[in-house]
Amino acid sequence: MKQSYYKKGKYCIFTYGCQMNEHDSEEIAWMLENIGYEHTDNIEDSNLIIYNTCLIRENAELKVYGKLGELKKLKRKRPDIILCLCGCMMQREEIRNIILKKYKQVDIIFGVNNIQKLPQLIDTHLQTGKTIVDIEEESRQIEESIDAKRKYSYKAFINIMYGCNNFCTYCVVPYTRGREKSREPEDIICEAEKLSKEGCKEITLLGQNVNSYGKTLNRDYNFSMLLRNLNNIDGIERIRFMTSHPKDLSDDLILTMAQCDKVCEHLHLPVQSGSNKILKAMNRNYTKEKYLSLVSKIKERIPNIALTTDIIVGFPGETEEDFEETIDLAKKCKYDSAFTFIYSVREGTKAAEMKNQVPDEIKHKRFQTLLDELYPIFNENNLKYNNKTVEVLVEEISKNNPKMLTGRTRTNKLVHFKGNKDLIGKLINVKIDTTKTFTMEGHILDNSIAGGDIFE
Ligand code: 5AD
Ligand code: SF4
Repeated sequence: MKQSYYKKGKYCIFTYGCQMNEHDSEEIAWMLENIGYEHTDNIEDSNLIIYNTCLIRENAELKVYGKLGELKKLKRKRPDIILCLCGCMMQREEIRNIILKKYKQVDIIFGVNNIQKLPQLIDTHLQTGKTIVDIEEESRQIEESIDAKRKYSYKAFINIMYGCNNFCTYCVVPYTRGREKSREPEDIICEAEKLSKEGCKEITLLGQNVNSYGKTLNRDYNFSMLLRNLNNIDGIERIRFMTSHPKDLSDDLILTMAQCDKVCEHLHLPVQSGSNKILKAMNRNYTKEKYLSLVSKIKERIPNIALTTDIIVGFPGETEEDFEETIDLAKKCKYDSAFTFIYSVREGTKAAEMKNQVPDEIKHKRFQTLLDELYPIFNENNLKYNNKTVEVLVEEISKNNPKMLTGRTRTNKLVHFKGNKDLIGKLINVKIDTTKTFTMEGHILDNSIAGGDIFE
């Protein structure tokens, strides 16, 4: 690496979208620090600004254009700032063209499949002064030499695969992140072992569809095997994963989850809709009946599991009856939590071409009805935690109440409690006193570590 060309200074990075993007940003940060940049949260103070963008819904896209508008002024004042755009939006040629034409303050555009090239792109920009555009259409080359600058020392994301082969008709991901590709298990295990040596207690395995992990490897190895191997690593206490596609959730995986003590009792299983007609139009490859039978199998095997999901309302052709079937399914599944979305037309996807788009007004009305139905279900699930003792991984000082700490249960519930900030990163027992729809409050059980305010 020719370090001499890099103008060392400060960088700041803004991330939109999913955990994949968050983790990409952690890798970008690592690369930048490796070539001498220092992190700052203050945009005015930066020499390099990066926007890691998302394309999944229109509102994610609009936010970025808004920010770019605001940055025009800063760039006029400080033309030496290097402004970079990356992430899923940049995979779209039409979007890149708009940016090159309307937002000339942008210096470097790169995509999701070639983030490892960033140092080289900065170098070229500094040498030539030109706007650099570098995009790779193929899914990401597996590059084991990049590490990540992780936000927390005690919990970490690990990519186990890149890309997606499912082509749900509403979704842009297969067009931005390319075809599915699994990392070698040895590399994943090695990363987890290294993290554990550094004090990490919880890992979250990331992939668009972790249940099909291993299909692109030239050997007989699957996601269950990976979980079993990771479960043996000393020091790692909790294993989570996202996202599971219902069509590929095997009995073997359910058994593995039940048998591996470190695999947390939480499953995120996106259903998207409760209507078979809509599921078919979405190309989800399962029926409402198949999904419900999966859920009962999981709950039977792992009785204390927390089940969460993704639901889209207003997919093209969704009638009032279809929507009611979604509500009916949500009630049957008794979800612990859900990410709910209003269908957003994404250019280039099959659903965008469908003629029977649902009017905005109806979509919004259904969205509100869905929330009104879901919240009491979440609340009821949480009520069961009252007076129970739960293991909590202490994460940080509460953002809303600086006198409290927050952490998560194995079931991924957010818990607030009083305690010393030295507990951050530790696993402790908390007794739950009160619960709400999205959070709960409790007190530390062990007298030797309990009590007191947060000491700065
Ligand atoms: N409109 C609304 N929601 C979407 N999702 C994906 N694409 C769209 C879209 N076009 C949701 C799905 C997916 C989650 C990550 O985002 O529910 O599971
Ligand atoms: Fe993540 Fe999809 Fe958004 Fe890309 S488009 S950042 S894969 S949610």
